[in-house]
Amino acid sequence: MVVMVTGGAGYIGSHAVLALRRAGYDVVVYDNLSRGFAEALQGEAFAGVPLEVGDVGDRRRVREVIDKYGVEAVLHFAALAQVAESVEQPARYFRNNTLQGLDLVETLLDAGVRTLIFSSTAAVYGEPERVPIPEDHPERPTNPYGRSKLAFEFILESLAVARGLRYAALRYFNVAGADPEGQAGERHQPETHLIPLILAAALDHHPVRIFGTDYPTPDGTCIRDYVHVTDLVEAHLLALRKLIEGQPRVPAVTTAAGVAETASGGCRLVYNLGSEKGYSVREVIQAAERVIGMPIQTEIAPRRPGDPAVLVASSERIRRELGWAPRYGLEEMLATAWAWHQAHR
Ligand code: UFG
Repeated sequence: MVVMVTGGAGYIGSHAVLALRRAGYDVVVYDNLSRGFAEALQGEAFAGVPLEVGDVGDRRRVREVIDKYGVEAVLHFAALAQVAESVEQPARYFRNNTLQGLDLVETLLDAGVRTLIFSSTAAVYGEPERVPIPEDHPERPTNPYGRSKLAFEFILESLAVARGLRYAALRYFNVAGADPEGQAGERHQPETHLIPLILAAALDHHPVRIFGTDYPTPDGTCIRDYVHVTDLVEAHLLALRKLIEGQPRVPAVTTAAGVAETASGGCRLVYNLGSEKGYSVREVIQAAERVIGMPIQTEIAPRRPGDPAVLVASSERIRRELGWAPRYGLEEMLATAWAWHQAHR
């Protein structure tokens, strides 16, 4: 089967390419290289994977690539994903993540490609009413990034009913770590994520900032649910198989989150992807000190606007329905990320 990976030159997308290749799929990467890097696809494990450069909103170009390779399913990672940037440039986020996403999915359906896995986010929930957060938690995103992703989920749901789209929306919590075999890793420009910033601080001997120590948590710092990128992409493969198999079958689409099959042959899966364990910023820094065997300097900084105190997933649904089980814990996320950072400074 030929799978197109949009955003395949990015952090999560490049790991998905590896997982697909290792599982025997043929892969074509589609990326505009605005946030991803062609070098991410240069290792041995990527040999023979074509990189097609283009925007997901370029219908003609997308159609050309579908026809050239005989694409049968799409993993859609291409997106802008910085909360602070989305607050400053909301139109850019809606145009890129929502409107260009619509161009992509309509082009796929017009070409007869009905299977899509979409990278959604925990940001669709906003400030949680309760944790762990299940998929039927109210969706009240607090920033344009989360809204642009949720709006796209609504588009997908409507197209599942009307046009037989078969999709999974996977809502990521905090993705971290690197390929355990060292073939891919995390690189963002600029970097905003906690774990790579901790590792860069250790390597360059400067302090890492802790954004807020007065949250209502045991040590006053924010708690997040970190999930290893390799476990995360494995969930994509499970969802892809489920959509291809065409199970389960129910008569009509449901409005609550969950699995549904539509009269048009569409299918909707919505799953949270998290490890269901929360770690505070200070706990992550302490774990990093243990893993890398070096002290990490810290500096207390003000709260970062829009950060909820605690975000922890319930991933019970995907565990139960697809048998997903994360294999790597926080220390392995840090160790694999550390190995990658040291090799690619
Ligand atoms: N943090 C620091 N210092 C830093 C960077 C981060 O203390 O230098 C803290 C943050 O305040 C937060 C935690 O570390 O409490 C994790 O921050 P990240 O930026 O690594 O991750 P977020 O939880 O902000 O972001 C994640 C995803 C985003 C997504 C967001 C939605 O990585 O893509 O959840 O809520 F948009």
